[in-house]
Amino acid sequence: MRPRRLRTTPAVRRLVAQTRLHPADLILPVFVRDGIEEPQPITSMPGVLQHTPDSLVAAAREAVDLGVGGIMVFGVPRDEDKDGVGTCGTDPDGVLNAALRRLRDELGDRTVLMSDLCLDEFTDHGHCGVLDDHGRVDNDATLERYAEMAVVQAEAGAHVVGPSGMMDGQVRVVRQALDAAGHQDVAVLAYTAKYASAAYGPFREAVASTLQGDRATYQQDPANRTESLRELALDLEEGADLVMVKPALPYLDVLSDVAALADVPVAAYQVSGEYAMIEAAAAHGWLDRDRMVLETLTSIRRAGAQLVLTYYAAHAARLLGGGS
Ligand code: PBG
Repeated sequence: MRPRRLRTTPAVRRLVAQTRLHPADLILPVFVRDGIEEPQPITSMPGVLQHTPDSLVAAAREAVDLGVGGIMVFGVPRDEDKDGVGTCGTDPDGVLNAALRRLRDELGDRTVLMSDLCLDEFTDHGHCGVLDDHGRVDNDATLERYAEMAVVQAEAGAHVVGPSGMMDGQVRVVRQALDAAGHQDVAVLAYTAKYASAAYGPFREAVASTLQGDRATYQQDPANRTESLRELALDLEEGADLVMVKPALPYLDVLSDVAALADVPVAAYQVSGEYAMIEAAAAHGWLDRDRMVLETLTSIRRAGAQLVLTYYAAHAARLLGGGS
């Protein structure tokens, strides 16, 4: 047997390729910031911007025209609008909810509009939930905030809400709250396996996070693998429509495990630090950015992700020849 026979020409390699990348499988995460006149660069994520509402609409339109499958929106409030319980996240006129409404108005059902459902962008302490008297993240008090936030986001026009705080029971309360408010058609993208990762570093700049300390009491320990299967079982039982593994590249084993067992679509999130690592090496001329982008996205798909959240979504769509 000569395996090289199937590698001889580009056409034969294309014919036998087991994994294909398509813009429709990519989801673009975007940031919208309150109180800025012009889009702001994010130093640790070259090429990614904190948008004004207007530039956000333009970027979303461009991505949709390139064939990207969905948009995931993160809000960055003014510092003075942050408080202990993240009030801005449930204010219908808060930066994230206003942006969702505007995007849904402009784009309708042409794309899948997704919202990050978490408090960390909106709290003055930077944690993903509310704190108890001892300064610990209070799981069940946080669930009440998530339930309220889900309904406000659905009302603003999100097709999909993405609870990302890793509170126990978050999918169940979000599903129940959406149903009770008449939003049966709004889907839940569960952050199922979310590890306490150094790779979120640049994101913290992107959302102007005030976090002191870490999230190790609610995000998963990188040392653990089977724990993700327990998280998966819970999320499916609680009604998750889609499940996600995050970060992506350092956790391909977890992704592969989850994909083998999940009977719903599986997503993976190529996070800010994964983006920054490629950008930093490419800026030095140490590797070929475009090849690295396509190779990492292909690997994440090969490991079992049907969908990939990536800051490269529009760029990759362009490389793949997308566009109408
Ligand atoms: C929490 C949230 C985070 C990211 C997405 N949702 C930050 C965190 O958990 O600290 C990180 C995404 C990235 O690094 O690209 N709202």
